[in-house]
Amino acid sequence: MKINGIPHRTIWPNPKNPREICIIDQRLLPHKVSIETLVTKEQATKAIKDMYVRGAGLIGATAGFGMYLASISAPDNLAEFDAYMAGYARILNNSRPTARNLKWAIDRIIRAMAGAENSDDKRRIAFATASEIADEDAEFCRRIGEHGLGLIQKISEKKKGQPVNILTHCNAGWLAFVDYGSATAPIYAARNAGIPVHVWVDETRPWNQGARLTAWELQQEGIANTLICDNTGGHLMQHGLVDMIIVGSDRTTHTGDVANKIGTYLKAVAAKDNNIPFYVALPSSTIDWELDKGHDIPIEQREEEEITSVMGLNDEGQITTVQLCAPGTRAANYGFDVTPARLVTGLITERGVVAAEKEKIHGLFAQGQTAL
Ligand code: MRU
Repeated sequence: MKINGIPHRTIWPNPKNPREICIIDQRLLPHKVSIETLVTKEQATKAIKDMYVRGAGLIGATAGFGMYLASISAPDNLAEFDAYMAGYARILNNSRPTARNLKWAIDRIIRAMAGAENSDDKRRIAFATASEIADEDAEFCRRIGEHGLGLIQKISEKKKGQPVNILTHCNAGWLAFVDYGSATAPIYAARNAGIPVHVWVDETRPWNQGARLTAWELQQEGIANTLICDNTGGHLMQHGLVDMIIVGSDRTTHTGDVANKIGTYLKAVAAKDNNIPFYVALPSSTIDWELDKGHDIPIEQREEEEITSVMGLNDEGQITTVQLCAPGTRAANYGFDVTPARLVTGLITERGVVAAEKEKIHGLFAQGQTAL
């Protein structure tokens, strides 16, 4: 998608030197667009852990390239190579516990390298597979857009062309993936189809993914949007100002329970109370095929400082962090919550829209998970 009119992806190998992996440092957005280069496995882990990159799809794509960077520094002896990679996979896997795409991408690289007979082949395969994961992530989000378009179209027809008001939480936009986004892909598809849309953007405390990223990326794409604080959605729903909700997911169980950014559950409860459709858009790489209960999804807890302070621009135009609370204030920073399947109207996936039910989800992905 576009930054100042120029199409970008969120991660890409430097065409002049594919051993350098380029990312946008999302900690500085929207105030500064800064491209960082990852050349070591430690840098890849740090980029994920410290949220230079974030969002399920992009975490997965970065993990793929992180495994490739690790393969470059791995010893040539095959047994040592495999042990080195397994050790790094464990560290990488612990960098952000909730996003399913992380483990999914690591496992995919390890599986792909398994048959190779020498370390150079393994390195080549790691790069090719990481690139495939990134391309696939973008393509699956594009398809999510095609499948979600019909849902927006139906509402638009009912409203006789009046703008469709869509509420979203956090950032499941292109910045959370490699391109298009999951929750935003149907919105971009609707815009492209000439359907008027307006997005209510939850600010998404404490990291403010909505205020900093979603509002900015929609603005860059010329999509009408209004920023609201996290507590406003219920009021808007009661007053008929929300037609549908589309959020993303960091991990969805194969039974349909959805982990997403903290606060999502409360929106789903309010949506149910107001009879408003609540959709979750996700690629199949986010589905956890092992966990039966959303309750068992590991929920990341982050530093207190993310709540007790806030980042922004000062009067001199410099990015700065200020303290919000009295010194010594304690804070609990749960990163995600789980919305039970019963509150989800449907899952918008790369294969189509499906009920958040085990049989339906398994039916849709009966021929395996990936389709590229
Ligand atoms: O902590 P983050 O920014 O990595 O959280 C991820 C998210 O942005 C959201 O939870 C999003 O809605 C799902 S990820 C596509």
